[in-house]
Amino acid sequence: MTKRAVVLGVGHYLPERVVPNAWFEENLDTSSDWITSRTGIERRHFAADDETTSDLAAHAATAALANAGIDAKDVDALIVATSTADLTFPSAATMVQHRIGMTGGFAFDIQAVCAGFVFALAQANALLVSGQANRAIVIGAETFSRIIDFEDRGTCVLFGDGAGALVLEAQDGAGSTADRGILATDLNSDGSHRDILYVDGGVSTKTTGHLRMQGKEVFRHAVEKLADTAHTSLRKLGLGGDDVDWIVPHQANLRIIKSTAQKMGVGMDRVVVTVQDHGNTSAASIPLALSTGASRGQLKKGDLIVTEAIGGGLAWGSVVLRW
Ligand code: UT7
Repeated sequence: MTKRAVVLGVGHYLPERVVPNAWFEENLDTSSDWITSRTGIERRHFAADDETTSDLAAHAATAALANAGIDAKDVDALIVATSTADLTFPSAATMVQHRIGMTGGFAFDIQAVCAGFVFALAQANALLVSGQANRAIVIGAETFSRIIDFEDRGTCVLFGDGAGALVLEAQDGAGSTADRGILATDLNSDGSHRDILYVDGGVSTKTTGHLRMQGKEVFRHAVEKLADTAHTSLRKLGLGGDDVDWIVPHQANLRIIKSTAQKMGVGMDRVVVTVQDHGNTSAASIPLALSTGASRGQLKKGDLIVTEAIGGGLAWGSVVLRW
């Protein structure tokens, strides 16, 4: 018997306010056509002034619990992947824990920027297969609208707010790739690339700061590293692109998504794409895409899914799971 972290439910939450590309034309030298043709993005959601990351995360967690048919009291681990927590401390995760009525267990945040959900899923997997927890909620939640420089056309048009969540349970598997649940993970980081994607502020600098990015450089790394990490995870299982039912990639740029799929030999008809509606929601993008893919009827029980993401750090990785 091999313990597997199996998905019981999925859910998401998007703030009510939808901001179309045209909104940026009012104050910036940009065009809706440029944004769509260079990124695939058509619109994104922005949180209301009084709405915080933990609010979004709590809504997504509640939706995932309802989808799983599980009570929050029966969950013993909660992880929030975010770079935009409400407060310096306590963690967004403990706020969400309280909000959703989870009265026991433990909760903590993970910060690996856009790769945060992949890192959080890998940690949840380690907790569940090692017996340190039996049921976990893994959430990706962000309010990147708070750290965007609205005068920088190279970045402000790219990002959006939102949250998505999975409920996972430790179950016995046969130890084969036919098992449901998380089958393989691959995590990487390289701090020498700090300056190509960062926020120029933080607690220790006494400012909040704004997101700064050398887009072309990040693009170059993404195209190379995302296919590499996906292949590495699949290779651990003796599998390849042909075995994949769905790629559910980080949603930053449609050109990156297409190039990664092509390198993996997976047709775009087997890729869940939500970037047109959500923009880049950093750690929230993969669980938002998983939830959207499930509600569209794309992801079906038993499908082999590869998720992959890259973000500031650089930090990047992938998870292979059977839905
Ligand atoms: O989630 C974390 C990972 N992040 C990513 O994966 C993002 C990776 N990077 C990208 O997606 C792309 O590099 C961008 C979408 C950010 C930029 O696309 P690009 O094709 O690399 O454009 P570029 O930065 O080379 O800029 C091309 C031109 C420039 O003008 P000049 O110098 O050629 O005259 C930019 O100033 O496009 C200009 N430009 C814009 N024009 C209209 C940059 N932003 C805009 C804009 N509207 N919003």
